[in-house]
Amino acid sequence: MKVSIERWQDGQKVRKELDGLDRWEVHAAHSLWVEAAGCKLKLQQEPHALAASRVGVGACAWDSAFMLLAYFEQQDTSKWRSCRVVELGAGIGLLGTVLAQLGAQVVLTDQASVMPLLTSNVAANDMKGQAGSVHLPWRAQAMQLDWDLPQDREGVLAAVGGHVDLILAADCCYVDEGGRSANAATIIHMCSALSTSPCTRSLVAFEKRSEALLRDLEEAAHSHFLVVKELELQAAFVGSSAWASDHIVVLALEESKQHACGVMTFLAAAMLDERTASGIHGERLYVGQR
Ligand SMILES: C[S@@+](CC[C@H](N)C(=O)[O-])C[C@H]1O[C@@H](n2cnc3c(N)ncnc32)[C@H](O)[C@@H]1O
Repeated sequence: MKVSIERWQDGQKVRKELDGLDRWEVHAAHSLWVEAAGCKLKLQQEPHALAASRVGVGACAWDSAFMLLAYFEQQDTSKWRSCRVVELGAGIGLLGTVLAQLGAQVVLTDQASVMPLLTSNVAANDMKGQAGSVHLPWRAQAMQLDWDLPQDREGVLAAVGGHVDLILAADCCYVDEGGRSANAATIIHMCSALSTSPCTRSLVAFEKRSEALLRDLEEAAHSHFLVVKELELQAAFVGSSAWASDHIVVLALEESKQHACGVMTFLAAAMLDERTASGIHGERLYVGQR
């Protein structure tokens, strides 16, 4: 991937290409140019509003989103075509806009304070009709989905025709001073509630800000999903060596327990045990409760 930022320095606009994940450069920038998985995006940020209640942490992109972008790059990009995706806490909209450019039908969601920024980034990256654009229908929309307002979910599910293949959540867990995360369970519950079939997959990426956060998330994940995997990822930046992160964890959650019952649960677990025995490259797999 190639990431360039533009920020103000000594009264002048400075543009710079990054050679790895650099939180401080990204969070100082008002514009980001991202080239990844054959897509080109320009996204606006509001770095001055990061700490303010007006927009908050959704005003800039976070490292976890870039790690999920690295995951998308490592896949056969044709697999995203016609995939129906819901992104939770999308912020500036980096992930959802890439998948939409690859042909997925994406609903990028966030809370009310972030919607103006998210909506304008989604609209600005509509490639339809532009010379040299990908010949795929642009199907992204920004919608409010506040995790504390269950009624928002209905509209989001309706927007994807009642069927979700993939749920994304990048850096949506907050930690308190003791390292515990009060909303880890909420995020996992949202993933389960939006899983419309046993085939719906969730990718939850987060900065391991504490051991307790990892424990809280894994515990919630195991209570809602039959399959919980940790993906081992590297981000590759143009012109620099592959960049692995040990502070970002990506969990893949599959087979929400709301769809599993009795014999099916047993059979799924038995089949997955077999897959585990044969080994899945780059993924640690846990089936059911550990
Ligand atoms: C750290 S930011 C991550 C943004 C983006 N996913 C990324 O990685 O660049 C956390 C996001 O969660 C959103 N968020 C926080 N509380 C929320 C809530 N109650 N409902 C919906 N979104 C929420 C924030 O507005 C913000 O966009």
